[in-house]
Amino acid sequence: MCGIIGILGKAPVAQRVLESLKRLEYRGYDSAGIASLEPNGALERRRASGKIINLEAVLASAPLQGHTGIGHTRWATHGAPTESNAHPHATEKVALVHNGIIENFRPLRARLMAEGHRFTSQTDTEVIAHLITSHILAGMDPIAASEAAIGELEGAFALACIFADAPDLMFGARRGSPLVIGIGDGEMFLGSDAIAVAPFTQTIIYLEEGDSAALTRAGARIKDDKGQPVTRPRAQVMGAAAAEKGNHRHFMQKEVYEQPETLARTVGRYVDGFSETVSIPDLGALDLAAIDQIFLVACGTASYAGRVAEYWLESLAKIPVECDIASEFRYRSPVLGPKSAAMFISQSGETADTLAALRYAKQAGLPTLSVLNVPQSTMWRETDCVLPTLAGPEIGVASTKAFTAQLTALAAFTIALAKARGTIDADAEHRLARALIEMPRLVAQALQCEPMAQQLGAEIAKSVGCLFLGRGVYFPLALEGALKLKEISYLHAEGYAAGELKHGPIALVDENMPVIVLAPKDPLFEKTMSNVEEVHARGGKIILISDPPGHGASEHLNVRRLIIPSCDGIVSPIVAAIPIQLIAYHTALSRGTDVDQPRNLAKSVTVE
Ligand code: F6R
Repeated sequence: MCGIIGILGKAPVAQRVLESLKRLEYRGYDSAGIASLEPNGALERRRASGKIINLEAVLASAPLQGHTGIGHTRWATHGAPTESNAHPHATEKVALVHNGIIENFRPLRARLMAEGHRFTSQTDTEVIAHLITSHILAGMDPIAASEAAIGELEGAFALACIFADAPDLMFGARRGSPLVIGIGDGEMFLGSDAIAVAPFTQTIIYLEEGDSAALTRAGARIKDDKGQPVTRPRAQVMGAAAAEKGNHRHFMQKEVYEQPETLARTVGRYVDGFSETVSIPDLGALDLAAIDQIFLVACGTASYAGRVAEYWLESLAKIPVECDIASEFRYRSPVLGPKSAAMFISQSGETADTLAALRYAKQAGLPTLSVLNVPQSTMWRETDCVLPTLAGPEIGVASTKAFTAQLTALAAFTIALAKARGTIDADAEHRLARALIEMPRLVAQALQCEPMAQQLGAEIAKSVGCLFLGRGVYFPLALEGALKLKEISYLHAEGYAAGELKHGPIALVDENMPVIVLAPKDPLFEKTMSNVEEVHARGGKIILISDPPGHGASEHLNVRRLIIPSCDGIVSPIVAAIPIQLIAYHTALSRGTDVDQPRNLAKSVTVE
């Protein structure tokens, strides 16, 4: 969602703040702004609604010269995405940017207005600027004033503040939203994630929950949630290149093409190629054999990864599984058994609902496992056991390489659990391990379907909607196909279990309705083909995604065909994810939508 960058620099910082904001565009936003402490000692702001290009135009006509500056991309929560609601918010004393939501902003605002403060926006954030100002006017220095102000806030925040009378100071604080410090050569940075500061420095410090930090060009003084000085470890971040498109037209396309590599990395984490065995490193105190039920909890695409895993876990590890959408989980009073474990799946590790569900499960005393992509994210720190997906930074809003990496980690978990429960023997483990080892190569082969996906995308783009059908593990994949298509092409799409078709959705089928059927040859193939016949009989435009045996067995049908390689059932949904990603991508290209930053969407959804 919102993005933060702050720079204490040696030269004017506006252009670098802008550069960083462009890197943060992937998080989703609808306005942007920048503030700097100008050479004349005044805090000045430039803000614009809409894309950063609008802010760039404002800055070009009214440049900023300060060496101390902050910038923000805002995803509107309180107040419309207008210029006056865009961050930074400021008084004569302080300018600040904020991620998160201040829950008690109404009483604070009323109190400050009664004291004579004038508000110019409808945001919750502006109250923080006035709160700090009121403490400064009462005689506190900027650090003490900021510390006092955050002590009065309820809710979630990451903050970066600069001050009119302190050119060598930037104050940051995190509670609920991540914040990192970047350490440069005589320069210091604050960012909402490592990507924000990656162009300027590779050395960062992840602030812990409740930390605050006073930065000068010489370094950072960090305090913990009790106000005690602490030292936090330094980390090295990946090169800035991770946030470049390379020679791809979009981040999404780049990320789709990275999958053979990201999947090989993720497989390498869990599978020993030499012994052909599968294990979950760093299980800590968790005894897999002692679990008798698993709750799989996530949002959106990550929840579909969980629903694929539900089939694997029940059939291979013979364990009862309940899949939940995170926003429902803790409100439906789930019956948690004494031997239940809860598993969370999240690319960002910051999704508000998934994080709240994790905390709920922990409070109920369940062991928690999380499949996560962003190292050191909040969920990473709070879960008992992390199963990393080594997909690298995912910039495109639509999840692609993170989804297939989640499936890979979940497949490995299934095998490890099945082994611990004695439901598979060593031969089965070796076979499944080999399937995982071969999978990245098969994914690379599946990418060769792009020309066909392009042709199909151009046709689908002209239709009024699209249906995706599948059985077994291909049912959640059908849901994912529909989600991917609608989020980036804005075309209405639905995913159904193929057997559900005649219970209602078949009414939608006519000669204008593309019906994408996911059906590699498996034990359910013939049943899915019966459903295909039903669509065929009603003139639906069928697109069959299958492997060579599946296409061979359906030769008599007049359908469009997209071929993926044959593979073991445990990796088949991973390979079959490639064509649905490419079809969504090319449909969106044909419709001219914003592939990497679809309207209304945010990469990391940090509000409920
Ligand atoms: C869709 C998509 C979203 C996310 C969901 C959860 O392409 O990316 O549906 O999967 O918002 O996000 P994470 O995985 O960060 O918890």
